[in-house]
Amino acid sequence: MDIGAVMNTMRDPAGVPAHPVVFQVLMVITWVAHIAFVHLALGSAGLAIFAFHRRGADKATGAYWERLSMAMTKVAKVSVSLLIVLGVAPLLFTQVIYDPQWYTSNVLSGRWAIAFIFTLIVAYCCWFAFYHANHEGAKKHVGFYAWVAFGLFCLDGLIMHALSYQALLPEQWMNWYAPGGMVDTRGAALHAIQWPRYVFIMGLAVPAVGVFLLAYAHYFAGREDREPAYRAFVGALGKRIAQWGYGLALVPMLAWQFDFPAGSGLVLHPVGWFIVGALATMALWMRQLGDDTHGYLPAVCGFGLLGVLAVWREVIRIHYLRPLGYTVQTYTVHADWPSTVLFFATLLGIGGLVGGFYLTLLYRAGRVRGVYQADRTVSRLGTGAVSVLGVWIAVFFVYGIAISMHDSFNLN
Ligand code: HEM
Repeated sequence: MDIGAVMNTMRDPAGVPAHPVVFQVLMVITWVAHIAFVHLALGSAGLAIFAFHRRGADKATGAYWERLSMAMTKVAKVSVSLLIVLGVAPLLFTQVIYDPQWYTSNVLSGRWAIAFIFTLIVAYCCWFAFYHANHEGAKKHVGFYAWVAFGLFCLDGLIMHALSYQALLPEQWMNWYAPGGMVDTRGAALHAIQWPRYVFIMGLAVPAVGVFLLAYAHYFAGREDREPAYRAFVGALGKRIAQWGYGLALVPMLAWQFDFPAGSGLVLHPVGWFIVGALATMALWMRQLGDDTHGYLPAVCGFGLLGVLAVWREVIRIHYLRPLGYTVQTYTVHADWPSTVLFFATLLGIGGLVGGFYLTLLYRAGRVRGVYQADRTVSRLGTGAVSVLGVWIAVFFVYGIAISMHDSFNLN
């Protein structure tokens, strides 16, 4: 059986509305946003639990640990919702250009793909229970909810990883579908897990929360209710976590680097080794980080590293699938300029202006204690955001109605 021909036949015959590389680039970019919030959610959840258990252990800093635990519980709560929302975009792009691989992988582990939704719901509910209960002097047993949530989040990451990784191994699909020639349609197994890849990607949550704490300490510099001693405690902790997190991430990264199939050209690939070098550099930099460094800079560099990781995942996918005869370049294109223009205009207008307005508003409002008074720039941004939203809704309906009428006249 020619697996390349099988994969190409499984493609959507409707094709794609613009050049496939457009979707590939968008898939890589949007995944960065998804994984950044996966890291922030897991990192802040882990730290919230750790800090929760350290509250009473140390008399001098116990109150700081308690405050930090409550703050990180909130950060994780918001981050989970953002990681879910931001996961949708790369999911759609994957389904557009890698539909044969993604759907096959999901069907082969169907029960897990469905369990993913339910476990995520249970995990998020448990986290909310913890959030609700985690106050000053909270009882120790409420930590149970946090542990359950954290365990399930990690399980969800494992399911995501297996679905991504199985999609790279089409030569094994038949063995999983019909082991020993007997068809097994249960979808009851996660068939392939590459532990170094999973541990590395998930483990980046540790340095992520470290650089987040550095940014957090900087962000609240102007708020008198976050006194200098507390911010110094948070900053020093962030620096230590980031230093160790980046250093330790080298272990699974190197294990992953040497786990690629011989002859795939990936073991010595420069992008993989660039990541190794960047991790080592970040670890050394965090070790020597002085007070004069801008608090946001480590987070910006960490985000850049995720961009390289996103490219690396795509390079790996190309190296696995191209020898089998699958490349996105050959996807049928049925150009649809109006929808492409609408898409990019939405991205710029709604994403840029409306998203930009919300981000600016939240950023500035959070730096003020009590009531926040928006200045002229923010109120102008708000007016622009509402206007662009109105134009977008109007275009959406007018365009939709015009197409429907055009189609129904053509049918008659
Ligand atoms: C707690 C929940 C989640 C965790 C911990 C998580 C974690 C991960 C991880 C670790 C990967 C990389 C896997 C790898 O490359 O080996 C990944 C990929 C991905 N995740 Fe998530 N994720 C979560 C929820 C979601 C949700 C809700 C969505 C969609 C709405 C989503 C969409 C994606 C997509 C599209 C990919 C890339 C798949 C590909 O490239 O083929 N994730 N996720």
